[in-house]
Amino acid sequence: MTGDLLRLDRVSKRYRRGRLALDDVCLHVAAGETVGLVGESGSGKSTLARLALGLLAPDSGAVRFDGHDPYRLGGATGRRVRARLQFVPQQPRGSLNPALRAGEAVAFTLRVHGTPRRERPEIVADLFRKVGLRPELARRYPRELSGGQVQRVAIARALATGPDLIVCDEPTSALDTTVQAQILDLLGELQERLGLACLFISHDLAVVRRLAHRAVVLREGRIIEQGTTAALWAAPSHPYTRALLAADGGAPEPLTPTPVGEPSAP
Ligand SMILES: Nc1ncnc2c1ncn2[C@@H]1O[C@H](COP(=O)(O)OP(=O)(O)O)[C@@H](O)[C@H]1O
Ligand SMILES: [Mg+2]
Repeated sequence: MTGDLLRLDRVSKRYRRGRLALDDVCLHVAAGETVGLVGESGSGKSTLARLALGLLAPDSGAVRFDGHDPYRLGGATGRRVRARLQFVPQQPRGSLNPALRAGEAVAFTLRVHGTPRRERPEIVADLFRKVGLRPELARRYPRELSGGQVQRVAIARALATGPDLIVCDEPTSALDTTVQAQILDLLGELQERLGLACLFISHDLAVVRRLAHRAVVLREGRIIEQGTTAALWAAPSHPYTRALLAADGGAPEPLTPTPVGEPSAP
């Protein structure tokens, strides 16, 4: 029985200035499952990502990662739990220190999580191979890498701690279309090979369809529709989802996502 890895239970969040960014949201991600979170700009996707990662606390409701509140992960236990929950950002270049070589950025994460110094170079090389980068590229600075390569470095860094769940917030929206497709292929492959669970956020339905087992549609902070990707595409029940689908031009054929061990509950 694979339990839920991530649970948001009736979560609401309002920023100091502004309207409700999330309104009574329930969402869960099972082990090995990819859940696509779709919605237009300003619908609350990144807020949900920040709550899931413990970077923000909800005003009401509860967020749990494997039973732990990610906002209150302290001490050694906290570090162990945090290692299993990682993030792939929208602007990978901005998330890397320009003064660190790509390999050093990944090694730094290993160091934070207690990997002995002598073991780090080999693990870094392995991680680079895993994300489709030649290990020699570890010596380059971020400015000497392409956008797609930088995103692969960010993914390698996220994988460094052996996560069970990665939260990807529009991981391809800053990339050219061809490179986007390559990064999506990589994420699909990691999902399959490592059994990673993923909360995959995008404003682009076609992208979500390609990777996600289930999709959740967010609008103005509320979940207006959710279901298996196949069901949602076959018969969207909410007019907003239909409009999003139409705007998407019907969306291309999906890659079939790897089945999760357990079918998700109806
Ligand atoms: N730090 C912040 N302070 C105030 N309002 C914010 C902040 N971040 C986001 N918002 C507002 O919250 C809403 C949801 O934003 P966000 O979660 O970034 O949406 P998305 O990622 O879907 O574009 C928007 O109305 C946005 O303007
Ligand atoms: Mg966002």
